[in-house]
Amino acid sequence: MDLMEYQAKELFAKHGVPVLPGAVAETTEQARQAAEQIGGQVVVKAQVKTGGRGKAGGVKLAENPAEAEEKAGAILGMDIKGHTVHQVLVTQASDIAQEYYVSFLLDRANRTYLAMASVEGGVEIEQLAVERPEALARIPVDPRSGIDAAGAAEIADAAGFGSDVRDQVIDVLQHLWTVFTAEDATLVEVNPLVKTPDGKVLALDGKVSLDENASFRHDDHAQYADESAADPLEARAKEKDLNYVKLEGEVGIIGNGAGLVMSTLDVVAYAGEEFSGVKPANFLDIGGGASAEVMANGLEIILSDPDVKSVFVNVFGGITACDAVANGIVHAFELLQERGDSVSKPLVVRLDGNNATLGRQILDDAAFPLLERVDTMDGAARRAAMLASGTAA
Ligand SMILES: Nc1ncnc2c1ncn2[C@@H]1O[C@H](COP(=O)(O)OP(=O)(O)O)[C@@H](O)[C@H]1O
Ligand SMILES: [Mg+2]
Repeated sequence: MDLMEYQAKELFAKHGVPVLPGAVAETTEQARQAAEQIGGQVVVKAQVKTGGRGKAGGVKLAENPAEAEEKAGAILGMDIKGHTVHQVLVTQASDIAQEYYVSFLLDRANRTYLAMASVEGGVEIEQLAVERPEALARIPVDPRSGIDAAGAAEIADAAGFGSDVRDQVIDVLQHLWTVFTAEDATLVEVNPLVKTPDGKVLALDGKVSLDENASFRHDDHAQYADESAADPLEARAKEKDLNYVKLEGEVGIIGNGAGLVMSTLDVVAYAGEEFSGVKPANFLDIGGGASAEVMANGLEIILSDPDVKSVFVNVFGGITACDAVANGIVHAFELLQERGDSVSKPLVVRLDGNNATLGRQILDDAAFPLLERVDTMDGAARRAAMLASGTAA
């Protein structure tokens, strides 16, 4: 979950990373009031979850509250790389002697954390990494030992921070590491970190991505969830604790186990090539238990997706055997009927593994008109793709 700059800076302030005072505003009037409160020169900054706001005209200096109001008027409603600006941050303006870059992130490719730092900040970091890779220090961080003063010094020295700011940068890096670990972030980035003309080091911009897998230990992170940005089906699935991801295609997918569901997506996409290119409509892993309620919730979400033309339920019986899953499907149909969402799209079910014979018998006995049983994964994928394309007999 990516945060807005003002939210990132709240977390910076909480953990001792130096930031300037500011307030978020949704109207020009609020922007004027914020500027009055801060006093002096302010900067009005578009709050959107994308970089390059400065270049796009979304960061503007204002000499006084009236000017802040006017600048906010120009920025609110602006479109920056496809993001509409609904909020601005009004913050104290700072003189800048130099712009730096520092970040910590989860380096998935190398299975570790990574610190990056440069004394050439301000520019887009991707651009710096390509054009002048030697100017960007990259230091792996061992998650077991983390960052202490010595680790922070190693990063600062690798990036070549001068003695004028070295101590302050070491301090900022340690506080930033605290943000990273205490808040369970996957990215904390300051670009630019600046030196003011009187030699103070400050974070003028902030980017934080929080790891949603850790949200159970951060009740306060719920305030950062951006419902307007989420897909409505994904939001409903999340309420029901389902592992659901909306995709572009027409074949609804339900499976048990993330690995099986991933390969089901591949097999359906492959089978779909033969049928005017139909594709999977979603990822949905109902997990090991596969109770009737979870199955019903999953079917309800998938069937309510207007893009879905057919559904492929692909289950491999393991600890939860096929007969239990088949009973789950039968009860799910009944539950859906009770809820008034009877199954209205063709369903192809493949059951294999533990107690497959018994499970298949249960489905056959139930004899739902729209439910077809196909016993191989490839065969079932092909049938579901055919049904979705509307060419099935
Ligand atoms: N509070 C501020 N005072 C003075 N200049 C600022 C302030 N905030 C940002 N800037 C200037 O605007 C530039 C762009 O702002 P930034 O917050 O980094 O947005 P983005 O990265 O989206 O372009 C910064 O590199 C800095 O030069
Ligand atoms: Mg920036």
